[in-house]
Amino acid sequence: DYQKATNIRPEEHHVSREKRGKILGHGKSFKGCTIWFTGLSGAGKTSISFALEEQLVSYGVPAYSLDGDNIRHGLNKNLGFSEEDRRENIRRVAEVARLFADAGQICLCSFVSPFSVDRQMARTVHERSGLPFFEVFVDTPLAVCEQRDVKGLYEKARQGLIKSFTGIDQEYEKPEHPELVLKTARHTIEQSVQQVLDLLKEHFAME
Ligand code: PPS
Ligand code: MG
Repeated sequence: DYQKATNIRPEEHHVSREKRGKILGHGKSFKGCTIWFTGLSGAGKTSISFALEEQLVSYGVPAYSLDGDNIRHGLNKNLGFSEEDRRENIRRVAEVARLFADAGQICLCSFVSPFSVDRQMARTVHERSGLPFFEVFVDTPLAVCEQRDVKGLYEKARQGLIKSFTGIDQEYEKPEHPELVLKTARHTIEQSVQQVLDLLKEHFAME
């Protein structure tokens, strides 16, 4: 643990999760949770997360997406792609996601999050707070991501113009026990979104 300050202790809110859920229209139960998408660059994390966010909100379920490319323009603009910076990136995002989930959002996180220990840390942060955490492996083969090369980053990485690129010269550790695996090479975005919705429905018995 890297707690630096001393003489601090957590203060308890007066508002229960049940009350929060009620004013957010959660129905029978509080539905704050985090869905954590992990996978290579170009795997489809952002596309699936944003499409899912749109669907949930259209059903009246509060959802909010946190995305690597976006968070790195604000909160984490002082971080790069070294192993150390990626770990700090995920540590901060895990804490922010926990706050969103605690506030009653279905928080959708789309980060490469290449290291197992960091994803485990994100899970632990949620579980310690009694918030559900669903790890979703967007399992798109490197060859497919590289073929898509939507942003042209793989080409640059192959040319050595980008260093520490995930899957090329930095490691991606595949999840061993994710709640869900999405095969985007075989399914449309809509089908992947439906698979995550099914997982949520199963968990919350959502109407
Ligand atoms: S991480 O590993 O979780 O800290 O990465 P993340 O915050 O998700 O940021 C990944 C996005 O940054 C772009 N990009 C890179 N990705 C991986 N490796 C390197 N070196 C790199 N440099 C820039 C890229 O657009 C990633 O977005 P996605 O959506 O994954 O393609
Ligand atoms: Mg993305």
